[in-house]
Order: sequence, then C-alpha cells, then structure tokens
Amino acid sequence: MSSNTERKTIITSENRSLILSAGTTGFRTWEAALHLGTFLSTTSAGKSLIGNKRVLELGAGTGFLSFLCAKHLGAESVVVTDREPALIEQIDDCIGKNGLNKKQIQAGIWEWGMPLQVPFLFEEHGRVEFDIAVGADLIYDSDIVPLLVSTIRDLFDNYSVKEFIIAATVRNEDTFHTFLEACARNALAVEQIPFQSPPSEAQTGFFHSTSIPIRTYRVLQSQGQDQGQTSSSS
Ligand SMILES: C[S@@+](CC[C@H](N)C(=O)[O-])C[C@H]1O[C@@H](n2cnc3c(N)ncnc32)[C@H](O)[C@@H]1O
Repeated sequence: MSSNTERKTIITSENRSLILSAGTTGFRTWEAALHLGTFLSTTSAGKSLIGNKRVLELGAGTGFLSFLCAKHLGAESVVVTDREPALIEQIDDCIGKNGLNKKQIQAGIWEWGMPLQVPFLFEEHGRVEFDIAVGADLIYDSDIVPLLVSTIRDLFDNYSVKEFIIAATVRNEDTFHTFLEACARNALAVEQIPFQSPPSEAQTGFFHSTSIPIRTYRVLQSQGQDQGQTSSSS
C-alpha cells in the first residue's frame, strides 16, 4: 500500500460475538450491512445513490451504513434509526468519534409502526423528508415483515422517499417470499440489484463472509398498471 494512501475508517461501538442481547440483534454489524456498504462504496451506481442525498436508515444496529454514507459517500444528511434506545445512545456517542456533527448525521428511535422520534434539524416544508432510505438484514422473521413493509410504504407516502435499498441475507426463502408478497400487497415494486460482494479472499475492505447468499434490492412505488406487481430476478 502506498504511504500516500488515505486510510478510510468508520468507528462503531459493537460486540462481534453477540447475536442477541436485550431483545435486539443490533449490537454487531451484520454481513448484509457490509455487503451493502461494499455496493454503495465501490460501484458508481452505489455511490450515485447516496451523494448529495438526504438518507434515512431503518433498523441500523451499530449505524455502520449511516456512518459510511455521512463520512465517506457525501450524503447531504443522514438520519439513523433503530427501535432500541441503547443502540441509539451508542450511535450518538460515535458521531463525534467519527469526526461528524449533528448537522451531518442524527440518531433517533424509530420503532416500525410508531411515530419517528428524530430531532427536528432536518425538517423542511414543515415535515421531515428524505430522498432515499436504506436497510440491511431486516428480513429475518416473518412476524415483523408486515410492520417493516407498512413502514416502507409510509416512507413513500409521508416522508418523500423515492427508493428504498435493502440488503437481505437469505437464510430462509419462505421469510423472503413473505416480504415480496407484502410489498406486492402494498403497491411496492421490488427489483434485484445485480451486485455480488467479491469472495472473501478477494475482499479489500468491509471483510465479510459470503457463505450465505446476500441479495440487494431496490424497492420503488409501483406505477399505474403495474400497481401491486412485484418483480424479482432471482
Ligand atoms: C439483524 S439486525 C441488523 C442491524 C444492521 N442493520 C446490520 O445489518 O448490521 C436487525 C435490527 O433491526 C432492528 N429492529 C428489529 N425490529 C425492529 C422494529 N420493529 N422497529 C425498528 N427496528 C427494529 C433491531 O433492533 C436490530 O438493530
């Protein structure tokens, strides 16, 4: 590595060995977040999704993706959310450690199905608006899928979101189909983004296992005659 190479860092507070603690799986950064981070930071399609955009993250866990967007991908602003207050405290604590300030990134509690609890800094035209929303590893339990999908619908209807990018570790195809069907019922179109992380031995950053398939999807509002149809290339 050249001595001029700038090392890009992201500081998160996490415990890599924790799967579930205090009712949340969010105390570690999951493979799907590292996969989506690789897509957003290494492809021109990914970078153009975030640059100069107002970004929202749902179910952020450690906030890794939000920090990536705010610190390295040129987002105009980022709101990072999760339902777990302890995670939001940790993320808040890492904002300064990453050299960021609260004009660039703010953390707030958002339990799906409940009102968004974020500070008012990014409010425009009397409401909070975003251009794009992102999420990683949120489709792991059929029981929470309806709430997740109605929240995604809410983002389009009430927060001006134009697209939702989600990376999903496909542990269970049935759970995944529940997600696709719920999207169709809510007039949301789902398109697979043809991106694969490099195999472990070829990775140069955001190192993660690729042993379980991870897929990346773009969720959009269905248009006109397409209302209610779901497309997926997998
Ligand atoms: C598997 S973790 C993924 C965390 C992070 N996105 C990542 O990929 O590293 C799922 C996250 O979703 C959050 N979550 C689960 N159900 C939620 C709900 N109903 N409302 C808001 N967040 C929720 C959890 O607290 C947890 O942080």
